[in-house]
Amino acid sequence: MQDPKPATTGTLAIENDAPLRRHNSFGLPATARRLVRITGDADVRRVLAHPELGRAPKFVLGGGSNVILTRDMPELVLKVEVRGLRLVNETDEAVIVEAGAGEAWHDLVAWTLDHGWPGLENLALIPGTVGAAPVQNIGAYGLELADRFESLDTVDLVTGRTVTLNRAQCRFGYRESLFKGALAGKSVITRVRVRLPRPWQPVLGYLDLERKMAETGNHAPDARTVFDWVCAIRRAKLPDPAEIGNVGSFFKNPLVSAEQCRDIITRDPHVVHYPMADGQFKLAAGWLIDACGWKGKVIGHAGVYEKQALVLVNKGGAIGSEVVTLARAIQESVYGRFGIRLEPEPVIV
Ligand code: EPU
Repeated sequence: MQDPKPATTGTLAIENDAPLRRHNSFGLPATARRLVRITGDADVRRVLAHPELGRAPKFVLGGGSNVILTRDMPELVLKVEVRGLRLVNETDEAVIVEAGAGEAWHDLVAWTLDHGWPGLENLALIPGTVGAAPVQNIGAYGLELADRFESLDTVDLVTGRTVTLNRAQCRFGYRESLFKGALAGKSVITRVRVRLPRPWQPVLGYLDLERKMAETGNHAPDARTVFDWVCAIRRAKLPDPAEIGNVGSFFKNPLVSAEQCRDIITRDPHVVHYPMADGQFKLAAGWLIDACGWKGKVIGHAGVYEKQALVLVNKGGAIGSEVVTLARAIQESVYGRFGIRLEPEPVIV
């Protein structure tokens, strides 16, 4: 379906009743009463200076890979489409590169590798945009964005000022940041800079990568090999949103106390758990959901992926409320059996 023809105000293109199905990776139907594409900081300032749009409540949408839309959007949707990939600085200690928030995250990973600047390979194939990456501090295979983060630029949605924030200021945590907390809905990330330390050190501690090393007999893979392995591992167990609508992991892996973990192990000796530095344990939410028998189950048009119970999928024609119903049913059964409340990873609107 074609987006409706935009009405133009100065250089600001406003789309009315814009369909969002193609702008969210779960493929959920919803309409934005008004949508504006943001191609640079100046576009945000134009929106703020606009007589009507300036005061309208706003919703910032990146690649839509971490959002569940359950309703039409009366808010003004700002679709972030800031482009550009560039080298900022190259020294003996590190390479710093900058990407526009609207670039696809995976394109940044591939581009850095093509230029001989490794360091992001464990984060290959994560769907979504560069601008969404810091919001939930994306992570996979033993690495998270915070480990490679330098700084970002964000435009304040009240003052229109561009502010640069460093790693400490972004308050990164496990799938958390300032942008899910105090700054939620208050600013638009327009550019992100990553720091790729030199000399390159591979991150190979994750079980799936250890298995690849054992399988191939290659215990000193180069960055391109790690990239290929990560792509192969992801393709084998995670659905491609271009083919099956999804938002990756639907729940965070829960943290429990050592006592709670021992208690669960007594009842379920196979529970997958990882010790954390602070004495707590992280449990594999996928395992807990799987243990409750959810793999492959369907409610309405939403289902649990057959190969990875942590991923909910669009079985075709799903609406947001069906996804939420399925998610609640999963939360209830995991709580009933293990006494653990699973927390959704995506933003539910
Ligand atoms: N497991 C099951 N059954 C399942 C799913 C998983 O028994 O249906 C077990 C697996 O066998 C494994 C453990 O649970 O022992 C963990 O599974 P996996 O290694 O696939 O990782 P995950 O904890 O499910 C996390 C991230 C992923 C990331 C992978 C790899 C979260 C919420 N998810 O998944 O991130 O790709 O590790 O690092 O932290 C995302 O955030 O969207 C995402 C895909």
